Amino acid sequence: MASRLGVGVLILAALLGSATAQAGYGEYTAAAQGMAPEGAPTSETPVPPAQTPPPPAPGLRYGFYSRSCPPAEYFIREVVAKAIRKNPGVGAGLIRMAFHDCFVQGCDASVLLDATPANPRPEKLGPPNFPSLRGFEVIDAAKALLENFCPGVVSCADVVQFAARDAAFFLSGYKVSYRLPAGRFDGRVSLENETLAFLPPPSFNLTELLDSFRAKGLDVDDLVVLSGAHTIGRAHCSSFSDRISTPPSNMDPGLATVLRGQCPANLNFTNDPTVVQDIVTPNRLDNQYYKNVLRRKVLFNSDAALLTSRQTASKVVENAVIRGRWERKFARAMVKMSLIEIKNAGNGEIRKNCRVVN
Ligand code: HEM
Ligand SMILES: *[C@@H]1O[C@H](CO)[C@@H](O)[C@H](O)[C@H]1NC(C)=O
Ligand SMILES: *[C@@H]1O[C@H](CO)[C@@H](O)[C@H](O)[C@H]1NC(C)=O
Ligand SMILES: *[C@@H]1O[C@H](CO)[C@@H](O)[C@H](O)[C@H]1NC(C)=O
Repeated sequence: MASRLGVGVLILAALLGSATAQAGYGEYTAAAQGMAPEGAPTSETPVPPAQTPPPPAPGLRYGFYSRSCPPAEYFIREVVAKAIRKNPGVGAGLIRMAFHDCFVQGCDASVLLDATPANPRPEKLGPPNFPSLRGFEVIDAAKALLENFCPGVVSCADVVQFAARDAAFFLSGYKVSYRLPAGRFDGRVSLENETLAFLPPPSFNLTELLDSFRAKGLDVDDLVVLSGAHTIGRAHCSSFSDRISTPPSNMDPGLATVLRGQCPANLNFTNDPTVVQDIVTPNRLDNQYYKNVLRRKVLFNSDAALLTSRQTASKVVENAVIRGRWERKFARAMVKMSLIEIKNAGNGEIRKNCRVVN
C-alpha cells in the first residue's frame, strides 16, 4: 500500500517536472553549437572521466589501444562529432547499431558485413536492420582513418562500440560519459535469420522482452535503462502502424491522432515515412523517454510494456524523476551490453574493411 502510494506521488512529480523540458532542449542546442565548430581546433573535446570501472570481459582492457594506436579513440570521437553536427539522427543510428550488433553473434561487427556471393543474406539485410539501420558510413570513415594511421590494429567491433559511446556523449550534451574497455575481435559469421531470432520486435510484451534480454545476459534494469535510448531518433510508420488505426488502451489517443496525420494509411516498402520517437526533445539523449512512457506517449508496445509490472513501472518513475540517475545507469548498461559474447583470436579477426571479412 505504502509503496503504491509512493509510486503515485512520484508519477505526479514526474508530470509536474515536465515543465522544465523546454528549457532542457534549449540548453542542448547551445551545447551542440558549442560542441566543436567546423574547422576549429579540437583540443577542447572533452575526455571521458577517469574513474576506474570494474574489470571487463576476458581479453578486454581499458585503454586497449593506448600503445598500439594511441589516437584511436580520439579519431573515432572526431569522426562521430563531425557526423552528428551534420545530422544528429546518425548518432541515434550508431547507438542502435551497437545494440543490433551485440544481440546477434555478440559485439563482433557482424552487422556491418555486406552481402557477397558466398553469403547473400547477412544480418544487414534482416528486417530489423534493413532499411532502417543507419550510420554505416560513419563507421567506414572512422575505420579508414584508423587503417591509414595504424593498419590492422583496431577492430570494427570496437569502432562500433566506441562510436555509440561517442554519439551518446554528444547527444546527451556530455552527460552520458564513460570509459569503454576494448580489444574485441571481428566475427566472420553474419546470418539474416539470426536477426529476427534475437532482436526483439516492437510488438513484444514485457515477458518476451525480458526473455530476449536475459538470453544475452541482461536483466530487468538493463531493459528499462537501455529502452531509454528511444528518447532520440526516428521510427518508420510500419514499426508501429498496428497501434494507430485503433489505438490500444496503452497509447495516448492524442499521440495516435498526431501519428495518423504523419503516416499514410496505405503503407508499403517504398511509402513508409518516419516520425520522431520523442516529440518533446527529439535529438537530445535525456530522460524524457520515461516521462513519455508515463504519459503513454511512446510509439511501441515494447515501450508501453514497461508500465505493465510494478517493478518496471517504478524503475520508469525513478528514471523520470531523479535527476542524473538515468544518464549514469545508461552509461553502465551500455558498457555491459558491449561485453556480450566477445570473440577472440581463435574465432575472430581484425578486419581491414568493416564491410567484408579478410
Ligand atoms: C527493448 C527492445 C527494443 C525494441 C523492441 C526496439 C525497437 C525499435 C524499433 C522498431 C525502432 C524503429 C526502427 C525504425 O522503424 O526505423 C527502434 C529505433 C531505435 N532504437 Fe530501439 N528497440 C529496443 C531496444 C533498443 C536498445 C537497447 C537501444 C540502444 C541502447 C535502442 C536504440 C534505438 C535507437 C537510438 C533508435 C532510433 C534509430 C534511428 O533513429 O535511426 N533500442 N527501436
Ligand atoms: C540460420 O540459418 C543457418 C543456416 O543457414 C542455420 O544453421 C541456423 O541454425 C539458423 N539460425 C536460426 C536462429 O534460425
Ligand atoms: C506475452 O506474450 C506471450 C507470447 O505471445 C504470452 O504467452 C504471454 O502470456 C504474454 N505475457 C503477458 C504478460 O502479457
Ligand atoms: C506504395 O504506395 C504508394 C502511395 O500510395 C504508391 O504510389 C505505390 O505504387 C505503392 N508501391 C507499391 C510497391 O505497392
